[in-house]
Amino acid sequence: MVRETRMDKSSLIYPMFIVEGTNIKEEIPSMMGQYRYSVDRMEEKLEQLSKAGIGGVMLFGIPDHKDELGSGAYAQDGIVQQGFRKAKELFPDLYMIGDVCMCEYTSHGHCGVLCGHDVDNDKTLELLQKTALSQVQAGADMVAPSDMMDGRVGAIREILDKNGYINTPIMAYSAKFASAFYGPFRDAAESAPAFGDRKTYQMDYHNRREALKEVDQDVLEGADIVMVKPAMAYGDLIREVKDMTDIPVAAYSVSGEYSMVKTTAAAGFIDETAIMCEMAVSAFRAGTDIYITYFAEELAKCMDEGRIG
Ligand code: PBG
Repeated sequence: MVRETRMDKSSLIYPMFIVEGTNIKEEIPSMMGQYRYSVDRMEEKLEQLSKAGIGGVMLFGIPDHKDELGSGAYAQDGIVQQGFRKAKELFPDLYMIGDVCMCEYTSHGHCGVLCGHDVDNDKTLELLQKTALSQVQAGADMVAPSDMMDGRVGAIREILDKNGYINTPIMAYSAKFASAFYGPFRDAAESAPAFGDRKTYQMDYHNRREALKEVDQDVLEGADIVMVKPAMAYGDLIREVKDMTDIPVAAYSVSGEYSMVKTTAAAGFIDETAIMCEMAVSAFRAGTDIYITYFAEELAKCMDEGRIG
């Protein structure tokens, strides 16, 4: 009765990896219990997610072919576009979200077009616009730019509006830090940068005001939801972002958080379910409205059982 933090399954988003090929369901070595699916094998997982009653699914595409420009990201028949079409055909009511970034599609693994050894911010914006539009045309209900280029939220809003998608929201990865917690994801998506790091476009985790400025900027450009990422070590920022804005806040509990729990639990040192619940509740207690997590299905079950929520 006096519990202060309340949450609902509909606030959970599950990130899912799609690969090219047929009849593929392969476990991701760096993320125990998580799989890459080919489009023809998506149904089984989407059905479970749909039955679990979670709020949405975020798709990540892993193409066979990568090039300098990341052209697979905005190909009409690209892997993630195929994934959206399939998902909408099978489960039209399941809310589908597109992660908009170039790093899974570029041969060099950076989140944009290169100019020498640097990412060219403004040239990348155009490709991000094309990527977002192609995802929405394929059926994505919302797009979530994770590239961290300056001005991308406004640029994506503009192209969506121009094409009549005035009601399609943008969830901006606003306070996204250059974090070692993304390590297992980069193995999963084969997207580790071939040289250098992402520190020219993702934020230094020493910085708090800069994160708030990024949020401010994204709101001004038309973001509908702002995100803090990672979640676990960033509860202070989730709270600050929540207090400064009226729009919904999301927190992404990333691959490293997931894999730390899975491997430590597998070694028998912690109770996986208990830790998972504690992490999720702490993100909601910090102020997030939406929680993106590889544990979405398991958390939904814990909410059903009344263990948390
Ligand atoms: C794409 C992207 C990344 C993640 C989400 N979108 C990787 C990165 O920025 O390096 C990380 C998600 C996770 O670790 O679970 N830029």
